[in-house]
Amino acid sequence: MNSQQPLLEGRDVYKFFGGLAAVNGVDFAVYPGEIVGLIGPNGSGKTTLFDCLTRLQTIDKGQIFFKGQEITRVRPYQVARMGLARTFQVIRVYRKMTVLENMLISRQWRGEGLLNMLRPSHPDTERRARHLIQFLQLEHLTDELAGHLSGGQRRLLEIGMALMPDPDILLLDEATSGINPTLIEIIKDRIRTLNREQGKTFLLIEHNINFIADLCSRVYVLNFGEKLAEGTPEEIMENEAVIEAYFGA
Ligand SMILES: Nc1ncnc2c1ncn2[C@@H]1O[C@H](COP(=O)(O)OP(=O)(O)OP(=O)(O)O)[C@@H](O)[C@H]1O
Ligand SMILES: [Mg+2]
Repeated sequence: MNSQQPLLEGRDVYKFFGGLAAVNGVDFAVYPGEIVGLIGPNGSGKTTLFDCLTRLQTIDKGQIFFKGQEITRVRPYQVARMGLARTFQVIRVYRKMTVLENMLISRQWRGEGLLNMLRPSHPDTERRARHLIQFLQLEHLTDELAGHLSGGQRRLLEIGMALMPDPDILLLDEATSGINPTLIEIIKDRIRTLNREQGKTFLLIEHNINFIADLCSRVYVLNFGEKLAEGTPEEIMENEAVIEAYFGA
């Protein structure tokens, strides 16, 4: 067990949609500097748990903590300002804006929406945006409309946008889905670099088990909204209940 305080923690979290328990009493913790995987069959509650942890969904029971502070009722933009960022299963970029423009308006932690878009950006902000664009190997696309990028390039852009406020933890919802192997390798390498060189913590929802095995020290498995298993990637891949949940009897 880890004796540190968790960076992000959910205690006995419940989320119901009508009669359906999408998240059904889950205990969950990510410690500083970890790369943790969150897997499970389709509809097992992974995205809903993300939404609960990032406060996009109000939970029906339980508590959420970030940096030791209870955030169960804190607004999402305030949680973002505290150092938490995420990407979405369906990519959210502004297709009619360029890569650079997308980066500049993505100062998620300010919570100022449209006003934020209209105000000229500070030179430091632009410097940071250009640095991240280069880091994500999108430099040749800096002035390209986001709508013209491939799915994988848009994923990288979305990760860049999430990195703009310099978060402590990044939650990525299926960062590799529908992406070619070359870009998956770039995403993997960049996550590793951010983790090793800047100590950034990651929580990754994935269906790509090789990606999880290569990056994660610990994995949680959800099934029907409940925590089915928790362990190293090796332990998880040998767990009979996990195999059963994925492949059935
Ligand atoms: N807004 C909603 N209203 C009603 N039901 C919902 C809503 N969001 C999710 N659900 C249901 O909650 C359950 C969990 O869905 P969720 O999207 O969290 O699963 P997931 O593990 O992310 O699945 P996938 O791997 O397909 O992305 C599913 O049965 C889904 O239909
Ligand atoms: Mg999902």
